[in-house]
Amino acid sequence: MVREVLLLAVLSSAIIAILGHTYHLGECPAVEPMNGFVMSKFLGVWYAIQKTSTGSRCLTYNFTVGAEPGEYLLEQVSEHPVLGVASVDNKYHYTGELKASSDIPAKMSVKFPLSLAGKASFTVFMTDYDTYAGVYTCQKLPASNRRSATILSRKKSLDKQVVDKIRSRLSLFGVSPYDLSIIDQSKCPGANDDTNVDININPETFSSHNIAEAVRKAGEKIGDGVEYVAEGVGKVVNKVHKDSEVDDLP
Ligand SMILES: *[C@@H]1O[C@H](CO)[C@@H](O)[C@H](O)[C@H]1NC(C)=O
Repeated sequence: MVREVLLLAVLSSAIIAILGHTYHLGECPAVEPMNGFVMSKFLGVWYAIQKTSTGSRCLTYNFTVGAEPGEYLLEQVSEHPVLGVASVDNKYHYTGELKASSDIPAKMSVKFPLSLAGKASFTVFMTDYDTYAGVYTCQKLPASNRRSATILSRKKSLDKQVVDKIRSRLSLFGVSPYDLSIIDQSKCPGANDDTNVDININPETFSSHNIAEAVRKAGEKIGDGVEYVAEGVGKVVNKVHKDSEVDDLP
């Protein structure tokens, strides 16, 4: 019983720790989309170097083309030690859909499958395509908004000078760069590391069965017979999810 309670506590706190956005009253700030933006040059993998109040580690984005012209997919992968056990890395995959506005390519909308509040704006405000990018998302809510800014890099690190340039651009738009957290990209699980437990976040993820499965797999890897309580864990995660604590603003 003690173990079960502990597991629940760890699971719920792990999900709460990945917020990645802040709430504000009123309208979304006017963050100007980059002029002459070309999405085809922006596609591929980016490392998130800094992001609005997040506890995520090893956060990456993979932009790929979608089914229709002007549609793209955004796969977000991050690592969370869900079980609080150092030997097990959990990689979360979460894929959203991007849609470019017809006239301004750098101005898009994004929708993640679990986002209860619906679409958010997704704006690329600066990039050189090969080194750095600054993106901004804002979701309108009744009388308020939910925001997130992210500094992206093609490599796991980015020159301080470039980071500062992006941060000062954000302040010009009226977005405080002091809300950004630094994201640790060191000692991240590799793509084929078999100690990983991959968890795909989609509406199915939050079924008791899938949670139990993830916990069971992790348990096998720990080799210490972690007991799981499918029903209980499912409920906690569902509650957390309903409170929209999943990081669904890129
Ligand atoms: C990015 O997505 C593409 C298409 O799904 C895939 O082929 C590629 O391996 C992905 N890259 C990474 C690093 O995940």
